[in-house]
Amino acid sequence: MTKKTASESVKEEEVVIDVDEPENTIEDLPGVGPATAEKLREAGFEELLAIAVMSPVELAEQAELGEAVAAKIIAGAKKIANIGGFISGKALLDRRRRVKKLTSGSSSLDELLGGGFETQAIVEVYGEFGSGKTQIALQLAVNTILPLDQGGLDGEVFYIDTEDTFRPERIAQMAEGVGIDPQDALDRIHVARAYNSAHQTLLVDEIKRMSKNIDVKLVIVDSLTSHFRAEYIGRGMLAPRQQKLNRHMKELKQLADVQNALILVTNQVMSKPDSMWGDPTRAIGGHIVAHASTFRLYLRKSKGGRRIARLVDSPNLPDGEAVFTVTSEGLTD
Ligand code: GTP
Ligand code: MG
Repeated sequence: MTKKTASESVKEEEVVIDVDEPENTIEDLPGVGPATAEKLREAGFEELLAIAVMSPVELAEQAELGEAVAAKIIAGAKKIANIGGFISGKALLDRRRRVKKLTSGSSSLDELLGGGFETQAIVEVYGEFGSGKTQIALQLAVNTILPLDQGGLDGEVFYIDTEDTFRPERIAQMAEGVGIDPQDALDRIHVARAYNSAHQTLLVDEIKRMSKNIDVKLVIVDSLTSHFRAEYIGRGMLAPRQQKLNRHMKELKQLADVQNALILVTNQVMSKPDSMWGDPTRAIGGHIVAHASTFRLYLRKSKGGRRIARLVDSPNLPDGEAVFTVTSEGLTD
């Protein structure tokens, strides 16, 4: 019995290493020279598996290749891609057991999420301007530094800031609110300003590289969609935008799994004029972002500075709402 357990935990290790270091690149595919490789990358095809599951017509269209070439590339990808993604239920359970929960500082919000914000998950926080998305992001950044027995993750934070709304002063305030040295908090939160969507995507690669030496426990992208929305305008750009976003989300999810980290992304809403009932808003990025997120929180402002978070479409938790407030010390009930 003991022996079996040991060998299975080795298998789990192997799975993690596989995810971390892909052996083949698209340059290894038959008929792919530098020009074709660039076209594939431009269209968001970095991984062999992503190519292996395409149809020739789709790939030809998206990467602007001839259909015959696309077919040949797909056939090659099928041969060398690591399609065998099976792991045992036991290994999956072991991985689930490593999940840790991060407190937001608001017990009702934690409760809504089944005890806190989970690692190995992407949480999408969406809502209109001023609804508190950035405040949640900043608070989670501070709380991640807390020791485990105080609801923290005892790790480091990477913050991708696309709107220039990260405020170190606010971090210092919130750090004092939870009783940690503001300087200490700022030392363990690594911030990068993303200048456009391509830069934003590259920053995730950079986090992957840095995570070899740093215990990354929280990655924030605030906001996930603002650059994509500004750069890909019009109907014809929707498909490429969604594809790039999808690819970005997959990279983030991989980081979450490999690092046992939480990914928090924020998202704006846009008005939905055809909606007659309910809240006339929906998140940007549509199904791609919704589907790639493990948990989705919809925020709205309420009376007296209160904020309401609604859990939307969770896989294993009941939908519900939590009320919290933002004070100068940070999030509370
Ligand atoms: P956008 O990024 O514009 O879409 O909005 P957001 O959802 O990120 O809003 P954000 O999290 O920046 O919320 C801003 C709100 O948080 C402000 O309107 C305040 O109500 C509140 N807030 C921010 N800082 C403080 C503070 O120091 N003290 C208090 N009491 N409230 C604060
Ligand atoms: Mg914001």
